[in-house]
Amino acid sequence: MINDEDVIGLGLESSCDETAVAIVKNGKQVLSNIIFSQIRLHKEYFGVVPEIASRAHLEVINDLIDASIKETGIDFKRLDYIAVTNKPGLTGSLLIALQSAKTLSYVLDIPLIGINHLEAHLYAPFLEGNELKFPYIGLLVSGGNTVVFEVKGIGDMEVLAKTTDDAVGEAFDKVAKYLDLSYPGGPVVEKLAKKAVHKNIIFPKILPDARDKRFSYSGLKTAVVNFVKKNTNVDKAEIVYAFQESALELLVRRVFSLSRERKITDIIIAGGVAANGRLREMLHSAKIDENIIIPSPVLCTDNAAMVGGLGYHYYIENKFDDIMLEVKAKA
Ligand code: KG4
Repeated sequence: MINDEDVIGLGLESSCDETAVAIVKNGKQVLSNIIFSQIRLHKEYFGVVPEIASRAHLEVINDLIDASIKETGIDFKRLDYIAVTNKPGLTGSLLIALQSAKTLSYVLDIPLIGINHLEAHLYAPFLEGNELKFPYIGLLVSGGNTVVFEVKGIGDMEVLAKTTDDAVGEAFDKVAKYLDLSYPGGPVVEKLAKKAVHKNIIFPKILPDARDKRFSYSGLKTAVVNFVKKNTNVDKAEIVYAFQESALELLVRRVFSLSRERKITDIIIAGGVAANGRLREMLHSAKIDENIIIPSPVLCTDNAAMVGGLGYHYYIENKFDDIMLEVKAKA
């Protein structure tokens, strides 16, 4: 049910390997959330191939927009704004949704709003009934990012810690590739780790100094490779179990040390790695009085509902972009 005073936004997302379109009401209620995943196209390469990604976005985006409109029965003319991810991401991929958004904004004569993909990820829980309350700590863990923010307001985020080399999701993907598992690595590693019995492999603790604010994953990946070279007969389940414990332990340690330092108890975890069940277990057993909020899996990974939802807050503050809006590979 839509009333005249409701604000309806269309969200578009094509920053990496998901083409996504969503329609959101008042920045809170998701009316349509369509995601076309390209995993199948990139699987054989064990990673996202930029050229394949942008072509695939181009092939499907118009149909997805039509499908979203049809699904909700909302006329294009009823839309109040178009929100689109314009940073960070793969340049060629970002351009596809941005071009569609500019065209729609021009033709429909409604505001265009460029959205930071990372900020959008940390907005996802507010589409599931959580009340928006600042400040909060945001841990973003995906194939391209491992970063902790203090989110102080709309468009106001301070980076507290980030990776100096690989992202944590990338480490899951690389270890899976090295062990001849499949892509993306995260879900297969998590599943296989559950089969570990002995659990007696221990990789060196990553960045053990408590004052250190960084993340780092390339050393852990090398430790896994070196271990496998020396121990050819060890069960893969035992190896991925030890890798996963080490990789996730650093996230948990860092996020609590930063939230306690800032005296902020609301912590949002988002991005593909947030779907990991073992991470959830570790967070819940390490927390004291923190409130850990993790979106449901469909809103953890790339989607446009988070883009359309966050766009509402820019819309009501009249923070619009114009037709010259550009994409940026880095935020
Ligand atoms: O946010 P996302 O869907 O895409 C981008 O990186 O843009 O995250 C994908 C990453 C991949 O590296 C994948 O291996 C990882 O998230 N991932 C997981 C799990 N599910 C996905 N990592 C650990 N455990 C999982 N269950």
